[in-house]
Amino acid sequence: MIVRADMAALADDVARRFAGDARAAIAARARFAVALLGGSTARAVLPRIAAADVDWSRTQLFWIDERAVAPDHADSNYRVAREALIDRIAIPAANVHRMPADAADPDAAAREHERALAGPLDLVLLGMGPDGHVCSLFPGHPALDERARRVIAIDDSPKPPPRRMTLTLVALAEARAICFVVGGADKAPAVKAAVCDADSQLPAARVVRSGAPVTWMLDRAAAGSLPEEALR
Ligand code: 6PG
Repeated sequence: MIVRADMAALADDVARRFAGDARAAIAARARFAVALLGGSTARAVLPRIAAADVDWSRTQLFWIDERAVAPDHADSNYRVAREALIDRIAIPAANVHRMPADAADPDAAAREHERALAGPLDLVLLGMGPDGHVCSLFPGHPALDERARRVIAIDDSPKPPPRRMTLTLVALAEARAICFVVGGADKAPAVKAAVCDADSQLPAARVVRSGAPVTWMLDRAAAGSLPEEALR
C-alpha cells in the first residue's frame, strides 16, 4: 500500500509504477497492455505518465470504462486521456484502443473490442467511486455477475450517463496487476470496506478478492479511515 500526502505526490508513484511495469512486460513479452482510468483521477495522473520513460511503440492503451459520448465530448474518458497523455507522447494510432461505448450497436462493439484486448492486461489503473464502484460496475448491478465476457455495454448506469462500456470482473481477475488509484475523503469509507471487510459486496472489494495482484495507491484523505495495521 502506498499513501502520499495528496494526489499530486501520488501521481509520481503511479507514473513510476507504470514505467516499471511497462519495462518488465516489454522485456518478457515485447508488449505492454494497460487499461487507463477515467474521471478526475485521470486528469491528475496521466500527465505524469506522459513524462515517464516508456516504450510507447510497444504499449497498447485500453480503458477501464467509457461513457456513450463522442470522443471529443467533455465527459469522454478517451478525451481526457488524449489531452493529458496521448497528445504528449509518440504512440502509434494503432496502439490506442478507445472503448466504442457510443457505437450504434454497443453489444456488438463490446464483443469486437474484447477481441482487441487479446489476452490479459499487464496493468489496470483503477479508479473508485465513493460508493465503491470500479470501472462502470456499480454496487448491486447485475453486470457484477458476468462470468464469461471481458467487455460489456450497459444502459442503466446509476451515475450519468446511463449508457457505458466497461471491463468486467472477468477481465479484472485475469489482469497481471491492478493498481487502485484513489484520492479524497469521500472515498475513505469504501476504501476501508474494500481493504478490511472480507464480506463486503462492494465492487472494489470483489476486485480485491478476484485473485489479481492488487496494489492500493491512496492519498492521505482516502486512507483516512484505515486502521494502523492496514497502513503498514
Ligand atoms: C467513470 C469512471 C469511474 C471513475 C470513478 C472515480 O467513468 O465514472 O471511470 O469508475 O474511475 O468514479 O472517479 P473520479 O476519479 O472522478 O473520482
